[in-house]
Amino acid sequence: MSQLRVESVTLTFGGVAALSAVSLRVERGELVSVIGPNGAGKTSLLNVVSGFYHPQRGHIFFEGQEITRASPHEITKRGIARAFQNIELFSGLTVLENLLLARHTYLAYGLAQAGVFYGKALGKEVENRRAVEEIIDFMELEPYRKALVGNLPYGVRKRVEVARALALSPKLLLLDEPMAGMTLEEKEDMVRFILEIRAQGTTVVLIEHDLGVVMDISDRVYVLDFGQVIAEGPPEEVAQNRRVQEAYLGVEA
Ligand SMILES: Nc1ncnc2c1ncn2[C@@H]1O[C@H](COP(=O)(O)OP(=O)(O)O)[C@@H](O)[C@H]1O
Ligand SMILES: [Mg+2]
Repeated sequence: MSQLRVESVTLTFGGVAALSAVSLRVERGELVSVIGPNGAGKTSLLNVVSGFYHPQRGHIFFEGQEITRASPHEITKRGIARAFQNIELFSGLTVLENLLLARHTYLAYGLAQAGVFYGKALGKEVENRRAVEEIIDFMELEPYRKALVGNLPYGVRKRVEVARALALSPKLLLLDEPMAGMTLEEKEDMVRFILEIRAQGTTVVLIEHDLGVVMDISDRVYVLDFGQVIAEGPPEEVAQNRRVQEAYLGVEA
């Protein structure tokens, strides 16, 4: 059974189809990339998988359960987390606070429960701290943990955005252009983090423009163009596909 199954999903905005009958499967532990020109529907695909938009047609299943109409909150709780193309952090809070807040909002016990089961809630709090500190360590954000996010350089903020998604302990991590606008060195670091995240057993769906990176690290690649999947397969196969070369690489066939 595929971990994520998108079946014939159509998403339209006032007559414009951002996604037309898009189908995709991701197996547990895979690193799958989605590429395509600007406006191809890549972010829209993540929007329907994470419940930000509900498709007019089609179905989405995660670990065998239908999530097509589920809310973002429900979907996060089931184990799908997302790092946004436009960084969605609280700039007036520190790195540590952003990560703790993310974990609290989605995973922590409610206040009422905290009152009733104080011991249990306290245990949960210790566990939250430990998990967040581990992620800070893992993403090499130690020097910035008490820094306000708004004061951090762009490349570091992108890294914090990925860390925020990781703080939700996802089984499936959706990354929307996590390397966009980064320096070469920052990109190399991000690639290393993504590979380590995958090596720890988390499934990764990556939207990325840098084809070198995509071809290097992906198990499989999907190519979107005008809201449709025009190719799918292992990187070397997709790179040879004529439609892909025409649509995406701008190569004359
Ligand atoms: N909220 C929205 N309202 C109207 N149109 C949208 C919205 N989101 C996406 N679109 C349109 O859907 C298409 C796909 O956009 P998007 O998924 O952001 O593409 P990509 O991420 O591949 O650049 C574009 O034509 C875009 O203008
Ligand atoms: Mg996008």
